[in-house]
Amino acid sequence: MPALIPPSRFYELLSQGKFPLATFLRRREHIDYIEEPDLFHEVFGHCPLLTNQSYANFVRQFGEAAVRLGKGYSWHLFRIFWFTVEFGLINTPQGRRCFGAGIVSSPSEAKAAMDGTACEFRPFDLMSVLRTPYRIDIVQPIYYVIDSFTDLEAIVEQDIGSMIDKAKSLGDFAPAFEAKAS
Ligand SMILES: [Fe+2]
Repeated sequence: MPALIPPSRFYELLSQGKFPLATFLRRREHIDYIEEPDLFHEVFGHCPLLTNQSYANFVRQFGEAAVRLGKGYSWHLFRIFWFTVEFGLINTPQGRRCFGAGIVSSPSEAKAAMDGTACEFRPFDLMSVLRTPYRIDIVQPIYYVIDSFTDLEAIVEQDIGSMIDKAKSLGDFAPAFEAKAS
């Protein structure tokens, strides 16, 4: 995927308060969903939320933790990012809303997440997130829901390295999806 940069470079930029953006634009046939980030996903999905101080703090501190922890933790760190910044939902006084850029930049994913009949919503819990496998090429069967953007800051205040070590020893939850056909 040419629009993706290596994880170490991605995390390094986040730790510097920089959010790298893919600059290509999806073609019409990919209007509903594309596995790679494109300019629409970045600008429509991520940029508005980067003006939220708690979200921005989380992204930066997440990058710092990832740089500190190094490669052996990458896989689990992606899960945190996936279930928040990319596919997170948030409870609001008006009801549950999507904030993950992967949801808001995909019409069918947004419809599925708001409709809620074919997916499961779980309260955000870091240990559970760390043990939840995901696939990037399907509408998500499981979403994690935060109550406030300050919940994101609470994630990076924890000892993420120890949490990942524990998650590894406990093992993954059974996948809520079929294995990808190879
Ligand atoms: Fe993204």
